[in-house]
Amino acid sequence: MANKHTHRQKTSPAAKVIEQVRFIGALAKSPKTVGAVAPTSRKTAELMASNITRPTKLPVLELGPGTGAITDAILHHGVAEKNLFAVEYDPRFCRQLRARLPQAHVIEGNAFELDEALGEHCDQKFDCVISGLPLLNFDRAMRQQFLEGALKRLPLGRPLVQFSYGTRPPIEINDPDILVEKSRWVLRNLPPSRVWTYRYSAPH
Ligand SMILES: C[S@@+](CC[C@H](N)C(=O)[O-])C[C@H]1O[C@@H](n2cnc3c(N)ncnc32)[C@H](O)[C@@H]1O
Repeated sequence: MANKHTHRQKTSPAAKVIEQVRFIGALAKSPKTVGAVAPTSRKTAELMASNITRPTKLPVLELGPGTGAITDAILHHGVAEKNLFAVEYDPRFCRQLRARLPQAHVIEGNAFELDEALGEHCDQKFDCVISGLPLLNFDRAMRQQFLEGALKRLPLGRPLVQFSYGTRPPIEINDPDILVEKSRWVLRNLPPSRVWTYRYSAPH
């Protein structure tokens, strides 16, 4: 559990300001893909990471890590850097994450095309998939494709974890075998958010 303390200490007030500046810079350049006005709050990130149990000891897959707000919570939860795979679209965020977390698998790629992004690791199973993507900026068909791409990499019962600012589920479900759960609203987030989980409750 050495990670617990290491990754907490890295979020100093100065580092927080740098993170905000980088985030806002990326938002100005790509509003649709960044899709948020500020990095995810620690409260939301911790709530998302609390879904990690790793009974299988499988790695964790993070999608859209950005400046690493949720990444820090994942590592703080006891996941070793080498057991973290992160797929991020923006090359600058990838460079920053690789510099900070040299043992993690930081992959520059498209989270909607996971087979291609994961490449030689495309058959890898994960304990859970944790997504910081601005899903509501993408159409329904893409969100459906995203859900399928994530769930097929998870053992039965393990979740895709997604935060969302909306009142409606970020992904609409027609399949009765997929269990959808939502958290309470996290008010300490800009804007307030909720954490949704999607998992298969029966073999498919
Ligand atoms: C709302 S920001 C969240 C950043 C960070 N996870 C957080 O919670 O503060 C969305 C992130 O997803 C990335 N992103 C957007 N579309 C993506 C895609 N198709 N594949 C991978 N990453 C993507 C953006 O570059 C950005 O870093």
